[in-house]
Amino acid sequence: MVLTSYKPKTVIVYTSLTGNTEQLAEMLQAAILNKELPVELYRIEDFSLNELSTYDYLLIGTYTWGSGEIPNELHNLYDAIEQLKRHQLRTAVFGTGDSFFAEFCGAVDRFRDMLYVKTQLVATLKVEQMPQHSDMARCEKLAELIN
Ligand SMILES: Cc1cc2nc3c(=O)[nH]c(=O)nc-3n(C[C@H](O)[C@H](O)[C@H](O)COP(=O)(O)O)c2cc1C
Repeated sequence: MVLTSYKPKTVIVYTSLTGNTEQLAEMLQAAILNKELPVELYRIEDFSLNELSTYDYLLIGTYTWGSGEIPNELHNLYDAIEQLKRHQLRTAVFGTGDSFFAEFCGAVDRFRDMLYVKTQLVATLKVEQMPQHSDMARCEKLAELIN
């Protein structure tokens, strides 16, 4: 008997000003593809919030702005998840920041707190500024949680 195994549908949605978070998003995408799982990658500007309910996993990538704040361009995504009423959506939030600031990757923490309440939060990942080759292992660990 042949059993078809279901492959979860994953989307990575991110924002990035100077490319650090974009690079991390691409590393995560590569780690997920290495597991032979489907994954889509969008900058927030190119992602339709109406599609949120069609995914099993949502991975959000963000830099941190101001004093530990979520960038403006992610506010609509934040609000949409809060209102989604889809507690079974599995989520992760990742980001890059600068530990010079008081709230290192504060935007990741702020998303984490909301995602923990509103969704099934499976992971968070914070990276100092530009991702290094050694961060690939952390991306692979996160990818392991997608199943
Ligand atoms: C005005 C400004 C405020 C920032 N505030 C924070 C902060 O509060 N916490 C933090 O960890 N990083 C902060 N950062 C650093 C950025 O989040 C960090 O450089 C990040 O890697 C940029 O990501 P990107 O290359 O994807 O745009 C700030 C940067 C700027 C320019």
